Amino acid sequence: MIPTSNLSAPSSPGSRFKTILWVSLGLTVLFVFITSELLLITDYPMYHAYRLQVIADRHLLIPHTVAGLFALLIGPINFSSRIRQRHLQLHRILGRVYVISVFVGSFTGIGLAAGRPGLPGTSMQAAAWMVCTTAAFMTARNRQIAQHRQWMARSYAVTFTFVSSRVLNLWPRYWSHLGDVLSAVGVIAFTLASLLIVDLGLSWRELTTRRN
Ligand code: HEM
Repeated sequence: MIPTSNLSAPSSPGSRFKTILWVSLGLTVLFVFITSELLLITDYPMYHAYRLQVIADRHLLIPHTVAGLFALLIGPINFSSRIRQRHLQLHRILGRVYVISVFVGSFTGIGLAAGRPGLPGTSMQAAAWMVCTTAAFMTARNRQIAQHRQWMARSYAVTFTFVSSRVLNLWPRYWSHLGDVLSAVGVIAFTLASLLIVDLGLSWRELTTRRN
């Protein structure tokens, strides 16, 4: 049972912040879906060479995409206080599906990067994804709910690097350097930045409020 003091009232600043955050994340997902995935499917000339690579990798990419989509979609459902309060069993089932999805997504992601310059970055990203998710699962099992929420926020930050790292794809300079920059250090930079932003958010109250 979650203490009521931890929950935001429907119109509290905390709840308004949550709504704005999720709407912004949703719009970013939509933008990336159109400018990266839809254009990739319709053979946008700039993505052509990458499209051939994606088609060649389809055996790994299909389970990878299904697992990644599960993780991406389960996040907002399981972060909802209302759904958690009313349907705890659903929250638990989806939580387990999320954990499995992260592990499947991580190992297929490493498989996709194997033999390419992106392997070290992807391995580090996958490790961060699995460590944060395992910590979230263990804290949930131990009923350490405050820590569980924090680890889930970190885990979802790594899930979201799939979206954030593709926001600039349509910018030709970014795209044409994708092989070198994103593969080598870009993925690590996105992962670290996402984790830092989440941790700053989690400590926001302590950072901005002086104890008497
Ligand atoms: C929301 C979660 C995720 C989804 C839905 C997802 C889905 C996809 C899709 C559709 C592709 C091929 C098309 C494209 O590149 O846009 C792809 C490629 C790839 N993904 Fe993911 N993914 C997710 C997270 C991750 C994570 C966390 C990792 C790292 C462990 C990863 C590693 C890779 C790799 C290495 C490729 C091959 C292409 C490349 O080198 O960029 N993915 N993913």
